[in-house]
Amino acid sequence: MSRLPAIGSTLLVLVLLAGAGWLAWSWYDSRLPGSYNPMDYATPDYGGGPQVSHDAIAQTVDELDGPAAGKPDFKKTITARQADVRLSSGETVHALTFDGQVPGPELRVRQGDLVEVTLVNEDIEDGVSIHWHGVDVPNREDGVAGLTQNAVQVGERYTYRFRAEQVGTFWYHSHQTAADEVRRGLYGALVIEPQEHAPKGALDLTAVVHSFPGATVIGSSDGTQQRIVRRGTPVRLRLVNTDSSAQGLVLTGTPFRVAAIDGTDLAHPTPVRGEPIQLGAGARYDLAFTMPPSPVKLEVTGSKAAILLDPPTQVGGQPLAESGSTFDPAGYGLNAPRPFTASSHFDRSFEVDIGKKLGFLDGKPGSHWSVNGKLYPHTPMYMVEVGDLVKLTIRNDSGATHPMHLHGHHFLVLSRDGEGVTGSPWWVDTLNVRSHETYEVGFKATNPGIWMFHCHNLPHARDGLTMHVMYGGVTTPYRAGDAVHNHPE
Ligand code: C2O
Ligand code: CU
Repeated sequence: MSRLPAIGSTLLVLVLLAGAGWLAWSWYDSRLPGSYNPMDYATPDYGGGPQVSHDAIAQTVDELDGPAAGKPDFKKTITARQADVRLSSGETVHALTFDGQVPGPELRVRQGDLVEVTLVNEDIEDGVSIHWHGVDVPNREDGVAGLTQNAVQVGERYTYRFRAEQVGTFWYHSHQTAADEVRRGLYGALVIEPQEHAPKGALDLTAVVHSFPGATVIGSSDGTQQRIVRRGTPVRLRLVNTDSSAQGLVLTGTPFRVAAIDGTDLAHPTPVRGEPIQLGAGARYDLAFTMPPSPVKLEVTGSKAAILLDPPTQVGGQPLAESGSTFDPAGYGLNAPRPFTASSHFDRSFEVDIGKKLGFLDGKPGSHWSVNGKLYPHTPMYMVEVGDLVKLTIRNDSGATHPMHLHGHHFLVLSRDGEGVTGSPWWVDTLNVRSHETYEVGFKATNPGIWMFHCHNLPHARDGLTMHVMYGGVTTPYRAGDAVHNHPE
């Protein structure tokens, strides 16, 4: 009888010893120096393909730059600074801004333009950078502190140059302490207009949705913004979600088409009636319709932020009731040919298994997001070579939603939960993956560099959900860490 407590306490001691050993090992394992190359810690993964050749490219990210010569078609200086920004309700937000406004200035360029933007940091103490979210720029222009450049410190400047080749709705934001700086206002819209001009009198509006403590805004308005729009006007609403979690948006008063997702026009969009849109973090949807003789309203669910389009003279008309089911891009629109499907031959196939794991992240204990069982910076480095057709299988069993964003590339969604995706090809740069969902996506490796692949719930990225896609032979002279003041997330 008296031996039971003895066995119990021996077991307890053993468990404690094992725990202490694990803690010590994890601490040792997770310790990072003051500055480090994330590439030195990552777990290289070749996706079942051959080891990549490191001399095929043998270039640094600095050499993978935009056109160095040539007069820019679009040239602008953007100054990052702190400012008190007044919302439409009179509420003031002490924000971090581009050019003193929130969102930052809307950049509108034309397809083919050589874009040159110089970023100046006036007083953002943590430093700042600009990442062109969704624009597949050359690697050196990608704006990731500690990977493609150093953060721009107070008093410094940095110039980005790239050719605007894609058409569509994009956005830009700081990629230095991004979880903090984007939330506080360092973001703006970037629209690349097609070469052929929009029909005369068309209305082309961006609706950038963001949440500040206590207020959700569209643009800088936390209330209803009203506009008079003539019946028959072609309207394009460019929805951008700059928050770290999904936003519900409802467009009532007219059927509409989802004309584009993440800056890629859908081949044959079909009419949608009242279905609410779930816009994942970082995602963009362009909604198109012809103005009816009655009001049309765009609302952000659970907030006061709205856009109301009113015809000059009203002819009755009730807003179309909201239908229950949420819009689903899988299967939307008419079928169109795809360059590849889930059963195509892929040069490399990678697993991206998102879970939760106990461990240490940068010396801090806790339960963190893991990929393939590993915590950042030990997360996978997906190795590719130029020309590879690459498949990613993203499995999420973490209990949370993760909007997964790949820099420098767009990927085609192939299947969800084992079922092939049909309809208009669904290309994204940021895919909202809910818990217990599995997606297969594919992309063609055509943009050499070292690219972040991370969750766009930015606190998640900061807390471990950060990986990289790396082309063989590409190196970076930049380092992350406290000693060099580079913290991409
Ligand atoms: Cu919108 Cu890595 O970023
Ligand atoms: Cu996440």
